[in-house]
Amino acid sequence: MVTASVIPAQAGTQGFRIALLLSLLLLAGCDRNPGSLLRPDDPQVVARGQAIYAAHCAACHGARLEGQANWHERDASGRLPAPPHDASGHTWHHPDQVLFDITKYGVARAAKMPDYVTAMPKYEGVLADADIVAVLSFIKAQWPAAVRAQQDEVTRAAQRQ
Ligand code: HEC
Repeated sequence: MVTASVIPAQAGTQGFRIALLLSLLLLAGCDRNPGSLLRPDDPQVVARGQAIYAAHCAACHGARLEGQANWHERDASGRLPAPPHDASGHTWHHPDQVLFDITKYGVARAAKMPDYVTAMPKYEGVLADADIVAVLSFIKAQWPAAVRAQQDEVTRAAQRQ
């Protein structure tokens, strides 16, 4: 680093300690959830996701992630209402990457059903990838520990395939 020479030795040690701590935290995170995309344990990511959820998702999926009424039943046009994102829904049945793909590219592409008609928008070009990860991390952070653990397992199983 160019600035290293002007920082007193003490600060250098401190910087090294911080770097070491960060890499240990990163390793700890990886150990627990290898390859997981979502960061439900990172308060900053979750806070950012909460704001994105309120602005982009709550109108359909509900302010408390409760979804729309009768979300299992298609309407006259064949579209499903928005499902809940809380533990009563289906969201946690999907691995991280599928949740990301649904949100970014839409259900049709994520499910490889090109003709599928749905009210779920796609967010490619609307939200940055990091914002999609943040909003899904916020959603995951709302699930009880047991549901989170199950979705971790679903994500790991998808990676083994
Ligand atoms: C205009 C209404 C609407 C908005 C806004 C919306 N969704 Fe959806 N979403 C839906 C509907 C409807 C479905 C059900 C799709 C289907 O299967 O036809 C859905 C499904 C999903 C699913 C799949 C859930 C499952 O159980 O399979 C995810 C993930 C999802 N939405 C994430 C989001 C996120 C994240 C946002 C905000 C960035 C968002 N949605 C905004 C209507 C919406």
